[in-house]
Amino acid sequence: MTDLKKMTVAASGKLRQVAYDILNEQTRLLSWQQGGKVPQEQFDSWLAEAEGLYSIGNIKVDEAFLAKAPKLKVIAQASVGYDNIDIAACSAHGIAVGNTPGVLVDAVADLAYGLILDSARSIARGWRHVESGKWGERKGLGFGVDLAGKTLGIVGLGDIGSAVVPRAQASKMKVIYNNRHRRADEAALGISYAGFDDLLQTADFVLVTVNLTPATAGMFNEEAFAKMKPTARFINISRGRVVETQALYEALRSGQIAYAAIDVVEPEPLPGDHPLLTLSNITVTPHIAASTVETRDAMAKLAAANILAGLAGDPLPAQVQIKD
Ligand code: DGY
Repeated sequence: MTDLKKMTVAASGKLRQVAYDILNEQTRLLSWQQGGKVPQEQFDSWLAEAEGLYSIGNIKVDEAFLAKAPKLKVIAQASVGYDNIDIAACSAHGIAVGNTPGVLVDAVADLAYGLILDSARSIARGWRHVESGKWGERKGLGFGVDLAGKTLGIVGLGDIGSAVVPRAQASKMKVIYNNRHRRADEAALGISYAGFDDLLQTADFVLVTVNLTPATAGMFNEEAFAKMKPTARFINISRGRVVETQALYEALRSGQIAYAAIDVVEPEPLPGDHPLLTLSNITVTPHIAASTVETRDAMAKLAAANILAGLAGDPLPAQVQIKD
């Protein structure tokens, strides 16, 4: 049996306590628990010995990175998104990659729904209004719009998008979706399929839940925003790079669309003096969709389980597969 205690796991940042306890007890764990970024030299020396990598945040794992980690057998990405990892390169080196699907679905769906609501009812905007002492001046804030009777268009309906559906239906919204492949359960979910252009032209709220891939990068560009209604609200909880930031800025500035509520943006972190933040018709949250105590703990536990399975040479509980 593999003696995991002799195997080294490097972590690219501070581990949640639950993952730290599991991995520290069962493996030789090298992690930077004081927070902040591990000094690069230190991290490189850990990588030289590591059989497992616990990846937090957006460290870029490509051929150059893998060259520094010749003993690596498994990478556990502590998120569902793994666009920072070259899966084909890992696979060519015999490295299994795990992520954390499933456990964050409700938390992310809640935030998506919250942003839909915010974009309709000016929650963040109302707060900015009050905070700047303008309670009495309703002018400038205007009225919101109802969710009831409106159409939500979900682009990339996977587990998270599906979890948003009943939340939207609870607000009496009609839901349409666009995917690469049509879903067999659309009748059960009470949703209908629309082509991408059709969805953009029809939806009152456009919610993006696609994975970031070469095919989806920049899919929300000037042309896409031009197809949307001037009353449309745009919500993004997937990855910033599916949107061309300049095109979003122009669409909001010119009134091409009414509002954007986004949890992800390119670049991240968004500098405080970024032009997007000069607009009054946008809410930006700092990539917090999965950031609840319960969900972060569940993600950390799953990432730790992925590491242990990979070190033991077993299939990972949540293994990323190479897709077409
Ligand atoms: C994910 O898991 O990919 C989320 O974006 C992390 O917050």
